Amino acid sequence: MTLSFNAETFRDDYTFANSPTAIRAFPFPFERDDYTYTVNIEQHVPGPVQSATEFPIHIDEHYVAEMQDRAITLAQDPLRCQSLPHMMTAEWDLVELLMTSMSTHYPETFTLTRDGDRWHWTNRPLGLDQAFTFGDASTLPQGPMEYITRQCQGDFCLLDQRDDNLWMDAGMVTTQADWSLDFDLGMNFMEWHAPVPLAHDLGVFERALKFLLNLQQGRPVRRLNWTMTINPRLDTSPENYHRWGIDKASVTPENVGDKVHLRVELQALWRLPRSNAIVFSIRCYLIKMDELVTQKKWARRFHRVLASLPQPIADYKGLARFRDTTVAWLSRHDDGLPTSPGFAPD
Ligand code: HEM
Repeated sequence: MTLSFNAETFRDDYTFANSPTAIRAFPFPFERDDYTYTVNIEQHVPGPVQSATEFPIHIDEHYVAEMQDRAITLAQDPLRCQSLPHMMTAEWDLVELLMTSMSTHYPETFTLTRDGDRWHWTNRPLGLDQAFTFGDASTLPQGPMEYITRQCQGDFCLLDQRDDNLWMDAGMVTTQADWSLDFDLGMNFMEWHAPVPLAHDLGVFERALKFLLNLQQGRPVRRLNWTMTINPRLDTSPENYHRWGIDKASVTPENVGDKVHLRVELQALWRLPRSNAIVFSIRCYLIKMDELVTQKKWARRFHRVLASLPQPIADYKGLARFRDTTVAWLSRHDDGLPTSPGFAPD
């Protein structure tokens, strides 16, 4: 598949937009007209052609702009990328996973050749050509995880498994929905999920952890998570809350369509072969309300989900300031018809 890339921004003048192809590929996360937390984990198997799940790692029209935005965030705050010393083997596992997947599924864009430990990587859109020795970090310009995640859409956490728990011991996190790698580094599964309401009482995290501790190599899984963001901003981190938090107060009935975005995270988990660590990818997709309502079913369903969302979940996701205004705007796009089951647009 030949990809072309948008010139666009995720900050300042916010020129990010989705083409009709990207809108149809958007991973709409609601199977029903209401929402609560569940253990919504499924096998990460290939989805429909040109969907977000067609390939294990999804590269799209936003690739180059997202990588430029990541570079800006890292220049301002290098702590968005951190790795504890015992994670080096997992970092190399991640290099292998991403380079193999990207070059296999997007061969016109990325090439990997391997001759024993002598690897050669070419990334055409970013203009990179790198020969290196697999396993020898001195042959790359950055650490292995940083090198490859500066070239792959989505955030990545590397989780060490020990004492029947998962530990967030490395990551590249620049597109997060209001949580901090610097704060969570070294925490375990229950600790970093502590702020989430309702789910603990529903047993969601206990069951999810048990499942993940048994994750098998070669059988990745995925789930969808969602929130909302004002303006198409990737870096909604606590570190920069002073830059974007104020935007929540800027929503008016006139600007909902342009300013309010549904933010969906396609999260996938792989068991890694050498380290026995798990990689957790968090690929962020943004869609403004004007784009979302081009799909009638999505407009109807999102209106109903947002109107009926339990208050503790709305508060946790930070929607309180603009939920009512957005529900009122969406109601004009809800014709009251029943919605068909499943995620796909009509
Ligand atoms: C092992 C990999 C995972 C990592 C690294 C991870 C990380 C996180 C983090 C950092 C947060 C934000 C917590 C905060 O407010 O500070 C979060 C939220 C959450 N996580 Fe996970 N998570 C993982 C797997 C899962 C799984 C398998 C589930 C399945 C049920 C899950 C369910 C949730 C839910 C429901 C939230 C609240 C999200 C929202 O309402 O916006 N997580 N996770």
